[in-house]
Amino acid sequence: MPPVQPATPSPAPGPVRALSFSGAAALYAAARPGYPPEVFAALEEATGRALSTLSAVDVGAGTGIATRELVRRGARVTAVEPGAGMAAELRRSLPEVPVVRGDGNRLPFAGGSADLVTYAQSWHWTDQARSWPEAVRVLRPGGVLALWWNVADHQAPWVAEQDARIRRHLGADHGVHATPARGTPSRAVGLPEQGPVGRLLPWSRRVSLRTHLDNLASHSAFLVRGEEHAEADRRFFAEEGARLLELFPDGTVEERYVVDLTTVTV
Ligand SMILES: C[S@@+](CC[C@H](N)C(=O)[O-])C[C@H]1O[C@@H](n2cnc3c(N)ncnc32)[C@H](O)[C@@H]1O
Repeated sequence: MPPVQPATPSPAPGPVRALSFSGAAALYAAARPGYPPEVFAALEEATGRALSTLSAVDVGAGTGIATRELVRRGARVTAVEPGAGMAAELRRSLPEVPVVRGDGNRLPFAGGSADLVTYAQSWHWTDQARSWPEAVRVLRPGGVLALWWNVADHQAPWVAEQDARIRRHLGADHGVHATPARGTPSRAVGLPEQGPVGRLLPWSRRVSLRTHLDNLASHSAFLVRGEEHAEADRRFFAEEGARLLELFPDGTVEERYVVDLTTVTV
């Protein structure tokens, strides 16, 4: 298992981008990928317990993509989500799950109240100087903080080429996949040097070309672009669709990911 390479914590991104998903919650829920079973097996390995015995807090839960998988495996989950649109979509699709409007920098829970705190693609939106001590406070001694991201797998050449086209279109620093390749620093920043365990879990999913393009469009780098870029973006997605049809003539795209998972026991 590769050790986690701690990177320097970055300042939390601005609130506009952090909360941009809320205006596109339905698109997000329909098009974003889930997570492979290996992620949830790794959580059981890290905690040493079946998920069905754990009380979990899923922070930055969004529309509930990770929440649903935790609940399906029997965990007692409370979802935390700051965005109104995302929280509403979560409540609609998982009405049995308690959803708290809050954020990772100030968790609305008593100390020592959870066995597991999860952040699926959301830790980077927090200020880790606050979210790490908050996770430690809310976890019971021996509890586990788990952070993970679906990362575009650049071992598939078409994925790397598409990422390069997106970066050219949006400007150099604005890809949609934050960690573009295996081996680049994890976004699991702000953790102590000793203790975190990293895992890289490759997987893929097959989706329609429409869903694939919607998935790209649901990333914050596109969501925060103003009306002045709408025509250029429309052209970009039309060209991207035509290009991908040559590669996937039956209209089914195999998206390739690596889940970058970090767990740390407190
Ligand atoms: C990329 S989405 C991930 C959603 C979901 N966990 C998933 O796996 O699809 C990031 C989520 O983090 C939320 N978020 C933004 N700032 C946050 C913060 N400071 N603390 C917790 N969540 C935050 C956003 O509203 C958004 O729903």
